[in-house]
Amino acid sequence: MMWYRDTPFVLGDDRHAQLQVRGLQAGYGPFLVLRELRFEVKPGLTVILGPNGAGKTTLLKALMGLIPRRGMVLLDGEDLPEKTHEIVQRGVTLVAEGRQLFPQMTVLENLELGGWLMSAPRSEPGSARRPGGARLLGAAQRALGTKAERARRIEQVLADFPKLRERAQQLAGTMSGGEQQMVAVARAMMSAPRLLMLDEPSLGLAPKMVDELLAIARRIADAGTTVLMVEQNVKKALAVADRGYVLERGVLVASGPARLLERSNVVREAYLGAGATEHTTAADAVQRRRKVSVRAEPVEALRQAQGERAR
Ligand SMILES: Nc1ncnc2c1ncn2[C@@H]1O[C@H](COP(=O)(O)OP(=O)(O)O)[C@@H](O)[C@H]1O
Ligand SMILES: [Mg+2]
Repeated sequence: MMWYRDTPFVLGDDRHAQLQVRGLQAGYGPFLVLRELRFEVKPGLTVILGPNGAGKTTLLKALMGLIPRRGMVLLDGEDLPEKTHEIVQRGVTLVAEGRQLFPQMTVLENLELGGWLMSAPRSEPGSARRPGGARLLGAAQRALGTKAERARRIEQVLADFPKLRERAQQLAGTMSGGEQQMVAVARAMMSAPRLLMLDEPSLGLAPKMVDELLAIARRIADAGTTVLMVEQNVKKALAVADRGYVLERGVLVASGPARLLERSNVVREAYLGAGATEHTTAADAVQRRRKVSVRAEPVEALRQAQGERAR
């Protein structure tokens, strides 16, 4: 049995959230890591690639309000609050590096904790996909309704991740890394986020588990929750993503549709070894690079550092 069901996911938010970021700066004390980042997270799955230390985790932490930030961040056209709990209420969730489950609690208890961090319910009338979904209005009604709503979401998350039902009573700390990652993602989905951020979800996992996790990220995006994922697994991440950015030393150096980014020089040379095989000759490589640069033309080289210097 796979970790996820083979029919579309139910949990999540189908509002197709968008994030617009302009002039984002963040760092640690006097140490500035991110410099004037400008990017967009459109509905679907966006991946951020980049070497260790590039600032990928810093970027997700800044969006989540875990470290201070400067610049403009708009979620569906409205300013994203700065405090983490307000950001959560707006429907943004982060699965941090290292999962951060409660190891002495069962899978079910970990999931229930995710239900406490519920985003405000949708204001639109119910979609056909959720005929029985609770529609809660004011804050008082929401408070009254949370217990039933949590139970409903637990049921949905166990339907979306059927293997978790078998493991419901297992202590999270006794699971393998990959299994814990599944719980962490499922727990994040308990809040029915409109924007789900994943920090290196496949780190340290066996290849089959990596594939399952990336397939789950894809399914979540297909169900309408916008996904922003940081990944080191360049080839696999680009295969499931719609769009991507490359972050190097706190600066975005390339962006574009995943298919084009995969063929771009910056990604091939730095992350995919220029796509060389044992049969590749130097002449082939030159030939391929010429083709690649033509095909990859729509890939936008941001060259922010140069832009800044020119200003
Ligand atoms: N808590 C911290 N305090 C100070 N510097 C940090 C902290 N966390 C990360 N950094 C530094 O910020 C830079 C970016 O780190 P990080 O965002 O974790 O990179 P990535 O996730 O791309 O590997 C690195 O130079 C790192 O040493
Ligand atoms: Mg990181």
